[in-house]
Amino acid sequence: MIPVFDLDAPDPEALLQGFGQYGLLYVRGHRIAPDLLSSFYDEYLKVTARPEEEKQTWSGADIWYQRGWTPPNTETAVIAGGQPDFKECYFAAPVQVDPEMRHLYPEVYADNRWPRNSDVFREKYLALGKRLHEVGLALLDSCADALGIGRRVFVTGTSGGPHVTRALKYLPLSAEQVNQDHIVWGEEHTDFNLLTLLPGGRFFDPAGAPCARPDPDAGLYLRTRPSDAHPRGELVYGRPPEGCIVAQVGQQLEILTGGDLLATPHVITAPKQPGYSRTSMAHFIHLHSEERLLPLSKFRSEETLKSYGPPVLAGTYGMKTLVDIGLAPREALEKLGYRNYGHVGPVRD
Ligand SMILES: [Fe+2]
Repeated sequence: MIPVFDLDAPDPEALLQGFGQYGLLYVRGHRIAPDLLSSFYDEYLKVTARPEEEKQTWSGADIWYQRGWTPPNTETAVIAGGQPDFKECYFAAPVQVDPEMRHLYPEVYADNRWPRNSDVFREKYLALGKRLHEVGLALLDSCADALGIGRRVFVTGTSGGPHVTRALKYLPLSAEQVNQDHIVWGEEHTDFNLLTLLPGGRFFDPAGAPCARPDPDAGLYLRTRPSDAHPRGELVYGRPPEGCIVAQVGQQLEILTGGDLLATPHVITAPKQPGYSRTSMAHFIHLHSEERLLPLSKFRSEETLKSYGPPVLAGTYGMKTLVDIGLAPREALEKLGYRNYGHVGPVRD
């Protein structure tokens, strides 16, 4: 059973069991009004209903789609063999990022991009993103406390980082696309950041009205840690109890804890009937780009250093991942070595 963690009555055991065994927790006491989330999804659907030519003006291949609109079939999961996800997304940064990092990582620290005449969309988006961020920081403090490594260790490492909130719309499948294995809403993957907050998705029927999930297989599924009974882990439906949201461990938190906490593999399964769509939101808390990714001293052993070494900066790690999932061009990796050999030329000639 995935534990419930109440922010008003923190239980370290529940937290460690959730993040350690399942890679996720259901969180109560988050103070996110369901009405705010529903009304945000209404605004997001209005934005995604605007003409394609207009949406392209808020899109940004130049900034690796880290702000504004991401067209359908752009992102691919690393283990999906290059199959893109059937979704369109929006990215915005809800909290202050470190301005100095713009020179080093211009794409992931870019300014927000907003559609024209979208004040309500922007306000609700930022309000939700900010609150999800606060919830995440509170969880990270409790998490560090429970691990006995100093309460502020994780939160200090996130200050000014490239945190981003994503709105997603999983697109309706046609009758021909239903049951075709290669059409996926979100292929199985783990998130590459520190901690992800998911306030809960909504399904819409073919007429566009909110509805219950159209079949028992549709929606968010999470894979638990392998055990003797389930050597490949178990796929668990990620629907939290009423009034709770989901918090999910990302790769950065797994690395820092030498695997004591588990980055949760998760998948978004499309319905088996045509015409249904789904909206969701995710807030990604990242380490600051200058933080080093290697198990913290308490979690170092020969085994964990082999598993998670060699160390890299969180910023470098992010660039590599964005290339892997098809959002950044492969040439971005060329920046990672010395690039100024040409400086020597004029001196020699
Ligand atoms: Fe994810």
